[in-house]
Amino acid sequence: MNEIKITQKEFELFRDYIYNEVGIALAPHKITLVQGRLSKRLRQLGLKSFREYYDHMLHDRTGEELFQLINAISTNVTTFFRESSQWEFLEENLPALLARKKEKRLRIWSAACSSGEEPYSIMMFLRDHLRDFSQWDIRLLATDISKKVLKKAIEGVYEEKDVANMPKTFLSNHFQPIEEAGRKRYAIKPELKRAVLFRMFNLVNDPFTIFKNRFDIIFCRNVMIYFDSETQRELVGNFHSVLADGGWLFVGHSESLTRNKEQFKLIRPSIYQKI
Ligand SMILES: C[S@@+](CC[C@H](N)C(=O)[O-])C[C@H]1O[C@@H](n2cnc3c(N)ncnc32)[C@H](O)[C@@H]1O
Repeated sequence: MNEIKITQKEFELFRDYIYNEVGIALAPHKITLVQGRLSKRLRQLGLKSFREYYDHMLHDRTGEELFQLINAISTNVTTFFRESSQWEFLEENLPALLARKKEKRLRIWSAACSSGEEPYSIMMFLRDHLRDFSQWDIRLLATDISKKVLKKAIEGVYEEKDVANMPKTFLSNHFQPIEEAGRKRYAIKPELKRAVLFRMFNLVNDPFTIFKNRFDIIFCRNVMIYFDSETQRELVGNFHSVLADGGWLFVGHSESLTRNKEQFKLIRPSIYQKI
């Protein structure tokens, strides 16, 4: 089926809207990508031009169209225990961080958590590595801009391929197998699910003043890559304001905090500490 053509002017409307709403900076060559990926959505909605789609999006109070747009230009791809060196770092260094704490209270934020693999990995890790886990007051906040991925995260049910690399004992400790019509899937155990609080939060436009308590660790991985350097600098500054002294910020492997050198020091590749 033929694609609906996007004009340069229409592309610029979308580009500016996306930048203002979510901080994603679209390069000029993304015009073909936007046209290609969104044409199907226009047809689904019975719309004839990108201008009509733009108006439709402006009037959409659910945020779903904005999400469709973000999805067309970015990705929600994620996996359990992504970036193995960061988990090794936690294994080696978390005991010292916990030992420094006066109260047994730990606050963690998985910002841009996608479909939940990241926050659930954190919770599984803590359950397995903290001998006195039950004595700790642990809050894990997991946020994303997309309602769709959050719905999947809250559901906490994953395909066989998603858990394929996990050791068997690990799987039986943290997941319940479900079998429906010959299809095997894995549900996160209820006690693990209860420990994670999922919320919608736009890292670029929502106010960080809502966070009353400081976080000990923030994961913000594989999302900053879509933001331009000024948006990244502001975001990292906001993380600085809500992190506890000496707190850690984990970013994706292809991301770095080059513009916030006075706020964070690099302690391992993709792991920073608040100064
Ligand atoms: C590639 S996934 C990263 C998931 C996980 N952090 C990881 O590293 O595996 C990027 C996520 O960022 C979310 N995202 C994009 N722009 C955002 C924004 N402005 N605020 C919050 N989340 C955003 C997307 O919805 C998507 O789920």
